[in-house]
Amino acid sequence: MGLTPLKIGNLVAKIPIIQGGMGIGVSLSGLASAVANEGGIGVIAGVQIGFREHDFKTNNDEANIRGLVKEIRRARELSPNGILGVNIMFAVNNYKEMVVAAVKEKIDLIISGAGLPKNLPELVKDSTTKIAPIVSSGKAASVITKLWDRKYNYLPDMIIVEGPEAGGHLGFSLEELKTYPQIVLKDILKEVLDVVKPYEEKYNKKIPVIAAGGIYDGQDIAECIKAGAAGVQMSTRFVATEECDAHMNFKESYLSATEEDIQLVKSPVGMPGRAIRNPLVEKLENEDIPVTRCYQCLRPCNPKTTPYCISDALINSVEGDIEKGLIFTGTNAFRVDKIVTVKELMEELVSEANKELN
Ligand SMILES: Cc1cc2nc3c(=O)[nH]c(=O)nc-3n(C[C@H](O)[C@H](O)[C@H](O)COP(=O)(O)O)c2cc1C
Repeated sequence: MGLTPLKIGNLVAKIPIIQGGMGIGVSLSGLASAVANEGGIGVIAGVQIGFREHDFKTNNDEANIRGLVKEIRRARELSPNGILGVNIMFAVNNYKEMVVAAVKEKIDLIISGAGLPKNLPELVKDSTTKIAPIVSSGKAASVITKLWDRKYNYLPDMIIVEGPEAGGHLGFSLEELKTYPQIVLKDILKEVLDVVKPYEEKYNKKIPVIAAGGIYDGQDIAECIKAGAAGVQMSTRFVATEECDAHMNFKESYLSATEEDIQLVKSPVGMPGRAIRNPLVEKLENEDIPVTRCYQCLRPCNPKTTPYCISDALINSVEGDIEKGLIFTGTNAFRVDKIVTVKELMEELVSEANKELN
C-alpha cells in the first residue's frame, strides 16, 4: 500500500514526515520551507528565535516575536503551498505571546512539548491553526486530551509521541533513562493510540498519532506506520542537509560523531537533553558556568542555581562554535555520513519506506 498522506483535519501532507523543530536556530525558514516543498511538514523552532536580532540581549521577548514573524513570513514566501509549523516549547516564558504571534501569521500548525500546553486551545481560538502536543507517555496523552476535552471541548488535532532516543530535551528523567532500552517508542505509541480511541469515537474525529525519536531510515518509518502511527517526526537526519539552518561546523560535528560521543546532559529545562560530547559537555561534568546575564527565557530555569545558560550554549553551537556550544542530537547522529539535499533525503526515505510497506 505504501506511505499514505498525513491528514490533520483539512491539512493534507502528501508525505507523512514532519521535520521536528530544532532550537536554537537549527530549523528556521530555510529547512522548514525545503521540507514543506517536498510534501512533508516543515517546522520552525520558536525557542530564542530572535537570536540574530540587534536587541536580543536587551529586549529578548520582542526580539523573539520579531524573529518569529520574520521566519514564518520567509518560510511562507519560499513555500507558498507547503505545510508549515512552529515548535513552541511550553516551558518558555513568553509562550502565550509567541503562540499568538504565530497564529496571527496564520501558521498551519503549532507543536508544543517541554511541558503540557494546557491552555493552547484557548490561544488558537477562532483561527485555522492546528495544535499538537508532544507527549512521552500514555499518561501524559490522557491528561492533556482529557483536559482539553473537558475545558475547551477540543481534541488535539494531532499528538506526537516522542520516545527516549530523541534529540534535544527528553520527556524522561535521568532515572527513567537508565533503564532506557526497556522504554520502547512503539510501546508508548500503542498506549497513546489506546488513549485517543474513545475520544475519536466520541467526536467522530481522527487524531493522527505521530512517532518520534530515533527514526532513522525508511524501514523505521514503515515499522512505525505498521504499529499504527499516522506519520513520523524526524530531526537528526535533517541536520545533515544542505538546507539545515545551522552553521556547517554544527552539521560536520554530526558527521564526525561516534556512538560513544552521544550522551545525556543536564539542562536548566529540568529534564535531561541529549548532545554530542565536546569540550563544553566535558567541562560541565566538573564545574558550573555561572550565568552573568539572564534572558529569563525559561520558566523552570533559576539563573542563580542553573549549571549554565542553555541559551548561550545553544546559540554558540548553531553559530559554529562547537567547542563552547551545546550540540543537541538524537541517538543516531553517528550513523550520518554525508550532507545531502532535503529533496534527496525525502526521496530516499519515501522509497525505502514504500519498499518495506509494499
Ligand atoms: C538539534 C536538535 C534540537 C532540538 N530542539 C527542539 C526544540 O527546540 N523543541 C522541541 O520540542 N524538540 C526539539 N528537538 C527534538 C526534535 O524535534 C525531535 O522530536 C526529535 O529529535 C526526534 O528524534 P530524532 O532526532 O532521533 O529524529 C530537537 C532535536 C535536535 C536534534
